[in-house]
Amino acid sequence: MSSDLKIEKIGVIGAGTMGNGIAHVSALSGFHTVLVDVKDEFVQRGFDTIYKNMHRQVKKEKISQSELEASMNRITLSTDYNQLSACDLIIEAATENKDIKLNIFKELDNICKSETILASNTSSISINKIASATQRPDKVIGMHFMNPVPVMKLVEIVKGSETDDSIIRCIADLSEKMGKIPVECNDSPGFVSNRILMPMINEAIFCLDEGVGTPEAIDTIMKLGMAHPMGPLSLADLIGLDVCLSIINVLYSDFGDEKYRPCPLLVKMVEGGELGRKTGKGFYNYKD
Ligand code: CAA
Repeated sequence: MSSDLKIEKIGVIGAGTMGNGIAHVSALSGFHTVLVDVKDEFVQRGFDTIYKNMHRQVKKEKISQSELEASMNRITLSTDYNQLSACDLIIEAATENKDIKLNIFKELDNICKSETILASNTSSISINKIASATQRPDKVIGMHFMNPVPVMKLVEIVKGSETDDSIIRCIADLSEKMGKIPVECNDSPGFVSNRILMPMINEAIFCLDEGVGTPEAIDTIMKLGMAHPMGPLSLADLIGLDVCLSIINVLYSDFGDEKYRPCPLLVKMVEGGELGRKTGKGFYNYKD
């Protein structure tokens, strides 16, 4: 059964890797999209990235130049949350930090119309916890996109214990309109995706730290041996090592199980600012 709730205008909070990818697919799918971040330079950088990635799709003949132009025109940039008041759906893709997300949801709950759906792209933080910061837990849901958002097909839809069925249907329909495949799961640390992915990445880092293999060997074994599109260390560099560490820390603290202990090498690299592609260095070097 499809949903009767109408979504026309979508707000995206956070113009970083995930946020600009979500705004990209939202605008390309015909939705008016308001992209918000804390600084003008962040929203402008997000907008430039969307242009660059859409241009790549034009060159590959996935979309036309006129689709690119129409989509870019559907995007409004702002640093003011009040610009989100008329949105039917907000997708939050801010830093993976519980307190930051709780504050954002509290503020959104005050600003947005009562029927607005509040979704989080969180990769591991409890949807029930996030929902508890609002007076509308029935309209709070996880909408977890994968990186790179314009390419990856999955949206992991995370149901909070109070999320209304009509909201779940609406978000599943919307994901399909965005060309994605929605799959539902329940709220639990790391949901399904990162509960399985992050221990694998963490274990790959232990293999490196213990000298079991070089980064190239570890990645090639997993690529060729398991038919993964990229090895776990390359993938960690793509996701961002800070994001990987915060997710594995949520698994570690919420389950209280030693098996999720972050590898000391991961902690050391994050402390040293080696965060992967976004800083030019992680397990591999991305500087020219
Ligand atoms: N925007 C638009 N198009 C993009 C893009 C972007 N940001 N990035 C890549 N593409 C396109 C390329 O143009 C290319 O298009 P064609 O098929 O038309 O040629 C296609 O995607 C493949 O890209 P490349 O040729 O550059 O490279 P590739 O074949 O090695 O693929 C990859 C790159 C898509 C990243 C692939 O390696 C892959 O699927 N890797 C695994 C990614 C993954 O596991 N993501 C999930 C991470 S976990 C997560 O995100 C959740 C979390 O909470 C941490």
